[in-house]
Amino acid sequence: MLAEAAIVNPSRRDSTPRHQAVLLRETLELLAPPRGGTVIDCTVGMGGHTRALLEAVGPSGRVVGLDRDSESLALATESLWEFGDCFIPLHADYRDLPRILTEGGFGPVHALLADFGFSSFQMDSPERGFSFSSEGPLDMRLDRSRGLTAAQLLAAWDEAELARALKEYGEEHAARRIAKAVAREQQKKAIVTTLHLARVVEAAIPAARRFRIHPATRTFQALRIAVNRELEGLEEFVEQACRMLGPRGRAAFISFHSLEDRAVKHTLAKLTPHCVCPPALPRCVCGRKGIVERITRKAVRPSSEEILANPRSRSARLRVIRRFEEGE
Ligand SMILES: C[S@@+](CC[C@H](N)C(=O)[O-])C[C@H]1O[C@@H](n2cnc3c(N)ncnc32)[C@H](O)[C@@H]1O
Repeated sequence: MLAEAAIVNPSRRDSTPRHQAVLLRETLELLAPPRGGTVIDCTVGMGGHTRALLEAVGPSGRVVGLDRDSESLALATESLWEFGDCFIPLHADYRDLPRILTEGGFGPVHALLADFGFSSFQMDSPERGFSFSSEGPLDMRLDRSRGLTAAQLLAAWDEAELARALKEYGEEHAARRIAKAVAREQQKKAIVTTLHLARVVEAAIPAARRFRIHPATRTFQALRIAVNRELEGLEEFVEQACRMLGPRGRAAFISFHSLEDRAVKHTLAKLTPHCVCPPALPRCVCGRKGIVERITRKAVRPSSEEILANPRSRSARLRVIRRFEEGE
């Protein structure tokens, strides 16, 4: 069942935490949501993009906003109160998009945005367990109402399983070394807090092999991806999102690590025309006409000004497509 976000106490409106929406101007320009249109924001977060989308569609349009994190969604809903019924918040996983659109009767969709990953609000809330620099329970669930926490997953895995996850989801070169140190520590004392894990990882990586980022960065990324099964169904979601667009509708995808961006890029390439008919044929007969055209040839990256103002934007990659019309 889709659960509408709880209506929350309006007196808390001013205290809504801020998250700087990444590539905001570029996303709006390339997505070009029409006035009066229907937009799906698959990842509301703190509502930065959502607000801009609501302003763009105006009072005769609507933005359906999804998030897996009911706490974030409730806060964003509070901060978007002035848009009234134009904003439709839904506590949902974007991988349920076809069902959400069918059950809600939200078509035709003029624009869709997916800004993957997690928000500054989640990162900066120590009790959520995403940060290796502040103490908190090793949780990392985006939806705290279901699933195993990172601590539970860590306790359930053996050394080989952890090493595999670190390599696959964190692209961690020292995966085996870290997995060994974690397994050894778990025998002495269960790892259930963020700083405990960060210390174990740090101690496992020799100083000479530490690069620009904190030694625990890739371990935390891998665990977060595993806990939330972030890569499962990602390609299917990107394809469904493109197929659910109305004629000439646009979709924008913002990724924050290479695994996500690879899945987006690969799926969009599959959906773009790659006709293999001989040039002499008057029209395409191979059937590989594709359903979308790329609006961005290469991924759009944040400007140096944006990275300076918001260092968390540095790894962002934006890709935008447009759905073909019938007969195009
Ligand atoms: C980078 S933040 C979005 C920030 C947002 N665009 C803003 O301007 O504030 C990503 C959000 O996506 C949500 N999310 C991640 N995976 C999701 C999923 N499978 N379904 C729905 N929401 C998801 C996270 O809970 C988080 O709030």
